Amino acid sequence: MLNFARKKAVMSLPDFHRVILQGIPEELPASKPFDPGVNHAPRRKDLLSLTEKKLAVKNALRYFPVRHHAMLAPEFAKELEDYGRIYMYRLRPDYPITARDIDAFPHQSKQAAAIMLMLSNNLDYAVAQHPHELITYGGNGAVFQNWAQYLLTMQYLATMTDEQTLVLYSGHPMGLFPSHREAPRVVVTNGMMIPNYSKPDDWERFNALGVTQYGQMTAGSFMYIGPQGIVHGTTITVLNAGRRLPGSDGSLAGKVFVTSGLGGMSGAQAKAAVIAGAIGVLAEINPKVTKIRHEQGWVDEVYHDLNTLVNRIKEAKRHKEAVSLAYQGNIVDLWEKLAKENVHIELGSDQTSLHNPWAGGYYPAGLSFEESNEMMSKDPVDFKEHVRVSLIRQVNAIRQMTARGMYFWDYGNAFLLEAGRAGANVFREDGTYIYPSYVQDIMGPMCFDYGFGPFRWVCTSSDPKDLQLTDQIAAEVLEKMMQEAPEEIRQQLADNLLWIRQAEENKLVVGSQARILYADSEGRIRIAKAFNQAIRDGRLKGPVVLGRDHHDVSGTDSPYRETSNIYDGSQFTADMAVQNVIGDSFRGATWVSIHNGGGVGWGEVINGGFGMLLDGTPEADRRLESMLFWDVNNGIARRSWARNEGAIFAIQRAMEVEPRLRVTLPNMADEKMIESLFKKE
Ligand SMILES: NC(=O)c1ccc[n+]([C@@H]2O[C@H](COP(=O)([O-])OP(=O)(O)OC[C@H]3O[C@@H](n4cnc5c(N)ncnc54)[C@H](O)[C@@H]3O)[C@@H](O)[C@H]2O)c1
Repeated sequence: MLNFARKKAVMSLPDFHRVILQGIPEELPASKPFDPGVNHAPRRKDLLSLTEKKLAVKNALRYFPVRHHAMLAPEFAKELEDYGRIYMYRLRPDYPITARDIDAFPHQSKQAAAIMLMLSNNLDYAVAQHPHELITYGGNGAVFQNWAQYLLTMQYLATMTDEQTLVLYSGHPMGLFPSHREAPRVVVTNGMMIPNYSKPDDWERFNALGVTQYGQMTAGSFMYIGPQGIVHGTTITVLNAGRRLPGSDGSLAGKVFVTSGLGGMSGAQAKAAVIAGAIGVLAEINPKVTKIRHEQGWVDEVYHDLNTLVNRIKEAKRHKEAVSLAYQGNIVDLWEKLAKENVHIELGSDQTSLHNPWAGGYYPAGLSFEESNEMMSKDPVDFKEHVRVSLIRQVNAIRQMTARGMYFWDYGNAFLLEAGRAGANVFREDGTYIYPSYVQDIMGPMCFDYGFGPFRWVCTSSDPKDLQLTDQIAAEVLEKMMQEAPEEIRQQLADNLLWIRQAEENKLVVGSQARILYADSEGRIRIAKAFNQAIRDGRLKGPVVLGRDHHDVSGTDSPYRETSNIYDGSQFTADMAVQNVIGDSFRGATWVSIHNGGGVGWGEVINGGFGMLLDGTPEADRRLESMLFWDVNNGIARRSWARNEGAIFAIQRAMEVEPRLRVTLPNMADEKMIESLFKKE
């Protein structure tokens, strides 16, 4: 990191332009030593046969003139051997990769410069999880497969015009193709496989060959904005979970939310609980993780003793404090204590990494953190048994709490899946789970069906004052909308108004000057138009990039997450996500992306998104209206066809606003009539 800061000071702007414009340099830089001070990706699985390994090296050499091959070939073979991938570490640039002011990037197209800014943010050392391996988040969410792809892409972006489109195949820049001003400047596909080759090990194999990559959601689409995205989503989830409590007045004051995990995404729960006005109680087994969150200020107090913690919870309830309390220990011990002491808890969830239960994602009760770490590698069979017993104990305690009125939800971390596999009592008679997932009960029916989703923007001047002004503009738009909005969406608007008013003081910016705000189609369009006007007036110093997480109304087909509240059988289809990206691309998106696997894993989901540059022009007004309207209403139409009530309401409202929109609406069959059809005589 120190090195990084020093280099930041010495690279002048003309030098930066020169190195970007040269792409892969004629004369290669010296090889770089492996830097142990940086957080590196784990060694990847080695599944390639000898023939395939030769192919992987041959593939990597395609980026270089033949005169370099004798030197590079053994180096790449060693990278493949040591890390399971060929990252081409030697080519990693010496300048800091970061979201500079848009005009600091050499460019002939402003749109292309905006894309350079966005992808640089995803690789910023302060933002990216494994920056040297070009991984932004989620362990394997890649921006590029190797540094040659990065250098070439930056060169193409710096030299392209608004009459060209850059085509990216899983990080590989296939090249610039002639197009036109209204076309996207970049089209990104990540991990698009022939369906039969979409198993997790296929990713290992084809990624090692250098022919595909896992782009997660916002990593490979250049739309990652650091932790604030997840904080906002979690705040919205906690607030809406609170509203599901019987007799809720909407306030979480004095109400307790118990959960586990203070890690990558789970750590957002502590911050979100406080923003939502609740008492957050979070168990974390790893002392290092607890310490980081405490020092960062996301956790207010840390407790090692359960008796002291229980007393503190009771006190916080009495005084209706908004506070986050960490329990340094196992979540199972915490649940059992709360059940035994009969402490009234209103909300509960779990965010241990149960998508990875046997290799460090879940620490079973009865073992210390160190004992677990040792046992999982030395005695994996015994470790599995401990996990199994622990999950059963956890579910038993949670069931006692829900029997007393607690609302519990699965947080998309495979908690119910693994608990069920472990033999815990999590099933109804018909085989469905006794607890809902956060999308089924909360995100889907309360947000996505009405078009509310994680809209975001980035100020390309990289000036915090611009972000401040956009916050203010967005708040003014929401205030106006509140005056006219129907009852069905007033609550969502109110939550988001509160969020945007507090956004600056919550200090959530890491990397680019970005903001997230859940908004519906109307909100997104009105906010974007107001930004475009402010750019035109000169009130904003630079253009603004619009985008969203793929985890949205229309962007993602994922049967156990984003589309888990689709019940007509179509949750296993991916037409919506594919249609969405195609539709965005001809309605004015500056770039579009379509990925395999974002969020829940390779082969399990298709997810897509867009980026759009607002530059203050009337063309930008036209594009934003056309594209944002489609980008939200495509998903609402699909959710409405699946008979989701909120979506039927929302799409009818959209048709009233825009007479050119005509959507096929579902007719409802009589349930009794359907039931009678297959009754046995
Ligand atoms: N936040 C969201 O919106 C969201 C959405 C979808 C899925 N998820 C899922 O949530 C999970 C967590 O994600 P993450 O990025 O925070 O992972 P992470 O691994 O960084 O954090 C999980 C934390 O849980 C702790 N832990 C494990 N077992 C424990 C136990 N028994 N008691 C107490 N602490 C324990 C670990 O030490 C770790 O710090 C993942 O499975 C992820 O896919 C989250």
